[in-house]
Amino acid sequence: MKRIVTPLLEHWYFRPGFVPRDAADPATEGFVPVCLPHTVREMPCSYFSVQDFQGLSCYKRRLNLKEEWKNHRIFVDFDGVMTAARVFCNGREAGTHKGGFTPFSVEITDFLRWDGGDFLAVEVDSTERPDTPPFGYVVDYVCFGGIYREVTLRAVPPAHIRNVKTEARDVMAPRKALALRADLQGVPAGAVLAASLWDGDTRLAVCETALAPGAQTAELLLQDLDVRRWELDDPALYTLRVTLHSGADTDEVCLRTGFRIARFTPRGFFLNEKSIKLRGLNRHQQYPYQGYAMPWRAQYQDADLLKRELHLNIVRTSHYPQSPHFLDRCDEIGLLVFEELPGWQHIGDAAWQEQSCRDLEAMIRRDWNHPSIVLWGVRINESLDDHDFYARTNTLARALDPTRQTGGVRYLEHSELLEDVYTINDFSHDGTNAGLRDPRAVTGLTRDVPYLVTEHSGHIYPTKRFDNEERLLEQALRHLRVLDAAAADPRISGAIGWCAFDYNTHKDFGSGDKVCYHGVMDMFRLPKFAAAVYRSQTEEEPVLEPLTRWTRGDRCAAQITPLVICTNCEEVRVIVNGVDQGKFTPDRSNYPSLAHPPVILRQLSGGWGDDWNGAEFIGYRGGKEVARQRYTADPTPAALELQADAAALNAGPWDTTRIVCRLVDSCGHPLPYDFTPVQLTAEGPGQIIGPGLRSLLGGEIAFWVRTTGEEGVLRVIVNTPEGLTAAVTLPVK
Ligand code: GAL
Repeated sequence: MKRIVTPLLEHWYFRPGFVPRDAADPATEGFVPVCLPHTVREMPCSYFSVQDFQGLSCYKRRLNLKEEWKNHRIFVDFDGVMTAARVFCNGREAGTHKGGFTPFSVEITDFLRWDGGDFLAVEVDSTERPDTPPFGYVVDYVCFGGIYREVTLRAVPPAHIRNVKTEARDVMAPRKALALRADLQGVPAGAVLAASLWDGDTRLAVCETALAPGAQTAELLLQDLDVRRWELDDPALYTLRVTLHSGADTDEVCLRTGFRIARFTPRGFFLNEKSIKLRGLNRHQQYPYQGYAMPWRAQYQDADLLKRELHLNIVRTSHYPQSPHFLDRCDEIGLLVFEELPGWQHIGDAAWQEQSCRDLEAMIRRDWNHPSIVLWGVRINESLDDHDFYARTNTLARALDPTRQTGGVRYLEHSELLEDVYTINDFSHDGTNAGLRDPRAVTGLTRDVPYLVTEHSGHIYPTKRFDNEERLLEQALRHLRVLDAAAADPRISGAIGWCAFDYNTHKDFGSGDKVCYHGVMDMFRLPKFAAAVYRSQTEEEPVLEPLTRWTRGDRCAAQITPLVICTNCEEVRVIVNGVDQGKFTPDRSNYPSLAHPPVILRQLSGGWGDDWNGAEFIGYRGGKEVARQRYTADPTPAALELQADAAALNAGPWDTTRIVCRLVDSCGHPLPYDFTPVQLTAEGPGQIIGPGLRSLLGGEIAFWVRTTGEEGVLRVIVNTPEGLTAAVTLPVK
């Protein structure tokens, strides 16, 4: 026997509501066929009622067991079901789970009949159950219901591996080591545990140990390893195979690991003993229309966007463990992660706290092998001090994973520091004062401690992507000031702003439309001005983003200055109304600590009543032109552009990509106050997610398409009533 793992994504049937008969009745009349990840209800992006998707629902699926799985122990692994689930196999309850962000496994071995009719029924409760974090009081985000992550069938021999934890050793030495601990089940006499480390197809090291019968854990050490460290610009990953041999049976687990040391200190954050100023944003896992239910590619695209478009080096998975795919991608591309347990301000009763500790344990056990994760959040975000509860969560996290430090996100000054890192949401900057508070004033301690800002900006200055220029500029300036303040103080490990993307929320928050417009990007991951603040802070690619729409009268009193240019260029030449204004350099006097301060033009001639013409900005590095932006004074629609984030999609279980549509002027800038309706159409093996008829929002919009399973060519077409049209073609293989 050996381990067999089969995804259970397709061939599910779904219906809102759950009646007792559903558990034992394989019939699916009145159900719709669905493919996971699945949301119980596609929701509008705004002005919805959260009651509309809350309630019980039923998912059913036949199992089609294979003869070769017989004599195995059979488990169904759920990656995430919001908010609670009861799993029935052939009418008998096989397991239950509470908590929408943590995985769970249900063993069905004893319930199977092997007669071809075996089936699962899952009762999903997507209500905001007060017995389950984050619920119990108000929450500033919406937890969309459903079996919204993947499900897998796992058949294992009686002797099998339950989990593996790796710990890199001697990371700074030329030859490194990897310690691993395997949790085991059903080990008979004569069993052996073996481990090998691989770099692609090359085996680097191997070791093994004989096991005593009944052994529940075993430790192995792979030594003398010639491996690269996991670095942000070279996130080297290796494959570990752990094999349990028992008689003729083998059970093998394969995972990825990396070699790095991460340390928060009173003098900042160090990765592999190099000081790194952390510059990040918070991410919610929510998408328009689909809620939480998006497959691997969307998760990958989010991580890519944070690292490659916004050039962040850290993301906080606010306020819960996020998709394993998202974390896998962070490992692959070198994006650090601060992951925290589910919760928001409210601490419930003793049973609720038990549940919270279970969530914490499940998160750490699921994710301890990700090199990207550098900190465990062990406090309910922004809750009050609670000595006993947080002493317990800290002890639990340290016992499970002594290699990582703990943080606990608070907004409190002088809060009791039970964690290793004082993680603080510092919303003190109001546009006129210092970017951040002094760490010692916040902690109330007379010594420096590891210190990380985990939120800033956010609700202090909500900004819509289609707001006017002044507001967008002010949002960007606030992010700039906070980043500068974080960069100035070596005691501050860095700052993680609120937040990456606008998100859906409850009536108690946001703009009344169930949206918090706190992102540097909107819900569709389209940039506001503030995105350029982050983009411009590294040298990866030339960035030249004037924070202007180049209009005569959008700002009050026809001002066009200050004209702030987020850039990593050394000099920027500015040509206005045909007149060369000369070259300008970054404003180091106002932003002394930023790697790349903005260039700021404080005076440009001309005003209301003067002739208004175009502008041109040219960025130079090492004296050479590396970037150029032009603006017309008379924008009109010049082209409808369509661009997909992926070049091709997969057939089979549903796949997806984001597609961006822009109505641009002759200089390639979206028309910022255009709200033209557009018709989105998909031809071939795919569908538009959400309505086909939309309005551009400020000259642009993004949407996702989903595949329907078959192979072919997916063509997505966008039309405007004025007859403009654009199309993209995606092979689906
Ligand atoms: C914080 C909270 C976040 C979000 C943010 C808005 O207090 O932790 O979840 O609500 O405010 O700025």
